[in-house]
Amino acid sequence: MKIAISGKGGVGKTTLAACLAKYYVKNNYKVIAVDADPDANLATTLGLSYDKASKINPLTDMKELIEERTGAKPGGYGAYFKLNPKVDDIPSKFSIDVNGVKLLVAGTIKAGGSGCYCPENVLLKRVFRHLAIDRDEAVILDMEAGIEHLGRGTCENMDMLIVVIEPGLRSIQTAHAVKKMSMDLGFKSVFIVINKLKSEEEKKLLKKSLKDFKILGELPYSEKVRESDLKNYSPCDSEDKFKSAIEKIAVNIEKLISN
Ligand SMILES: Nc1ncnc2c1ncn2[C@@H]1O[C@H](COP(=O)(O)OP(=O)(O)OP(=O)(O)O)[C@@H](O)[C@H]1O
Ligand SMILES: [Mg+2]
Repeated sequence: MKIAISGKGGVGKTTLAACLAKYYVKNNYKVIAVDADPDANLATTLGLSYDKASKINPLTDMKELIEERTGAKPGGYGAYFKLNPKVDDIPSKFSIDVNGVKLLVAGTIKAGGSGCYCPENVLLKRVFRHLAIDRDEAVILDMEAGIEHLGRGTCENMDMLIVVIEPGLRSIQTAHAVKKMSMDLGFKSVFIVINKLKSEEEKKLLKKSLKDFKILGELPYSEKVRESDLKNYSPCDSEDKFKSAIEKIAVNIEKLISN
């Protein structure tokens, strides 16, 4: 099960990623959760303390590792380096265990120009590809907000692309933009999770704008989830109505991927 989660800023991508990861671990899956957002906060959302999370170094900052594997210093534009570096030991070596979830803080693939061919991008792309293709763990990829970074070799080989939206047309606009790009990335469809839903009324209104999408499920607006951020505990341990909504989505994903 290889799942990439994207969407507009602040809609709840990290919350969904963390809670799916925890759910699958509880249900005996081996799970690697990958933080591919430069503003990384999947660790704390999984329940790691801020103190410990602040000590995690993203892969893209590991200069020695990048040089050792690619043969060139990070940022070494124009230098010769290996396009096929060894990465198969990286997920185990550099992930940390957070309540049973293996967390890999990746950093992000840099944008355009010569950046596409710098050693750190090449290494990270190989890691993402390895995670998606060669390994038997479930992978849950928490992506950077927006669409600008899609198609840089982050999510191409995943089984499923989920776009999280919240009640509001702006996040649906982002979903449309992701959908457009997803075809080029090889996805047959994108799936929507509606988050922060407050009423049936809202849902009815939204559904009209979501005709082009497959809806995977919905998560209620929850004061407890909001509070979890404020009081620094995992939103996945917040309240039953939220947990059962996560479970429904997780089961749906399992069904869709196994078919
Ligand atoms: N269902 C919900 N009910 C209430 N608050 C929520 C819900 N889901 C997420 N939030 C809150 O919304 C905020 C943003 O959530 P989260 O960090 O998961 O979004 P994100 O899409 O990953 O954001 P970013 O684009 O910054 O990465 C957090 O404070 C979170 O606690
Ligand atoms: Mg996030």
